[in-house]
Amino acid sequence: MGLKEVLKQKIDAHRPRTTRLLKEFGNVKLGEYTIEQCIGGGRGIKSLVTDISYLDPMEGIRFRGYTIPEVMEKLPKPDGKDYPYVEGFWYLLLTGDIPTKAQAEEVVADFKTRAQVPQYVFDILRAMPRDEHPMVMFSAAILVMQRESKFAKFYNSGFNKMTAWDSMYEDATDLLAKLPEIAAYIYRMKYKGDTPIAPDYSLDFGGNFAHMMGIKPPYDDVARMYFILHSDHESGNVSAHTTHLVASALSDAYYSLSAGINGLAGPLHGLANQEVLGWIQDVYQKLGGKVPTKEDLVKFLWDTLKSGAVIPGYGHAVLRKTDPRYTSQREYCQKYLPNDELFTVVSMIYEVAPGILQEHGKAKNPWPNVDAQSGVIQWYYGLTEYDFYTVLFGVGRALGVLANITWDRALGYAIERPKSVTTKMLEDAAGIQ
Ligand SMILES: CC(C)(COP(=O)(O)OP(=O)(O)OC[C@H]1O[C@@H](n2cnc3c(N)ncnc32)[C@H](O)[C@@H]1OP(=O)(O)O)[C@@H](O)C(=O)NCCC(=O)NCCS
Repeated sequence: MGLKEVLKQKIDAHRPRTTRLLKEFGNVKLGEYTIEQCIGGGRGIKSLVTDISYLDPMEGIRFRGYTIPEVMEKLPKPDGKDYPYVEGFWYLLLTGDIPTKAQAEEVVADFKTRAQVPQYVFDILRAMPRDEHPMVMFSAAILVMQRESKFAKFYNSGFNKMTAWDSMYEDATDLLAKLPEIAAYIYRMKYKGDTPIAPDYSLDFGGNFAHMMGIKPPYDDVARMYFILHSDHESGNVSAHTTHLVASALSDAYYSLSAGINGLAGPLHGLANQEVLGWIQDVYQKLGGKVPTKEDLVKFLWDTLKSGAVIPGYGHAVLRKTDPRYTSQREYCQKYLPNDELFTVVSMIYEVAPGILQEHGKAKNPWPNVDAQSGVIQWYYGLTEYDFYTVLFGVGRALGVLANITWDRALGYAIERPKSVTTKMLEDAAGIQ
């Protein structure tokens, strides 16, 4: 028997042990926590510290103590714009203070001095097959800039735990300032006939991104809103946790963010925003291009669940209500694109999916998360290439995770090393003979 066949037999024999432990002995304590938490991805185990954001299951996210509406209202905005400077939000994430307009604009100016992307990044992107997923391109572009790391140079020239945050902050800011151009370059190269648009350094983070994407205002405000909404969701989600984990080995911001972006590319995490649009397009296709009715959607939702797939954009590991990031984008749609066809379909899904998920009886949270709504706005402004959506999420997520690893170094957090046990040890704890 070959290796793979032997392995298959072992897996088939092992699976019932894990299932039994979960089903019959999930509540057995292993110290302060249970077998279910140990097998089930560490749900609810308090083992991470962050002050950048906090996720309450019923209220949703707060950034540095501020709700989403408070952040949008209190932070300074570019003249004539409805949404805040991303740079001012970075100031808030790092310090916990709402910056004045002058302070935010100082960060805007600082970002411009750091924004130039090295030519070799474009060369590497151009050398990649054009059908590579944009998240691969995005992650590779971040990783390849590791040679610029000030933190790595600091480490090699004599590391000091007390001042390590300084070069981590420098790397984090250098990286962030370059992400809009990298993301927009990937977009224009891959989807718009290889027509990159040069940056306009007179613009802020969101404004310059919209300019380089080639999408007119108010897309600049959409970009500001989108990046802020997707920035952080405390530390336990896959992208934040991965970035933190890799940085805990004193890997620099380039290694760490690239790893976090790879985690974001998973369909159960950031890729869900692309999956939502893919799912809806599938519905259209199956109906021969006809706009689905509520009845059509009910049928397709059940078909999806019966096929064993998840409803993308619904459910959450921590939240137990509609995600306020969903609500915030829904309010944008109600204000700026109330009659948009896709918005109508997504709203119909919102009316039927929670009830279906409740009836299905598996998901602990039947309510929509951020990803259920975000594609609608992008689509409306002409960004219909939905496999690019996770890159947008990644630019936003970088704000939160980079603020976190700067503070990780400031506080000298330890290298992560949770303890694992064997299945036999769990069976012993459960009293299984
Ligand atoms: C987000 C997500 C990964 C959280 O996973 P989780 O913490 O394990 O969620 P739960 O504890 O509620 O899962 C319990 C069960 O419900 C299922 N479930 C959860 N959300 C579901 C959904 N949207 N559709 C169908 N089933 C779902 C899970 O797959 C799991 O099934 P299992 O027991 O057969 O493994 C999950 O809700 C999901 O896959 N959602 C769809 C993808 C998505 O929108 N991701 C973006 C998150 S921001």
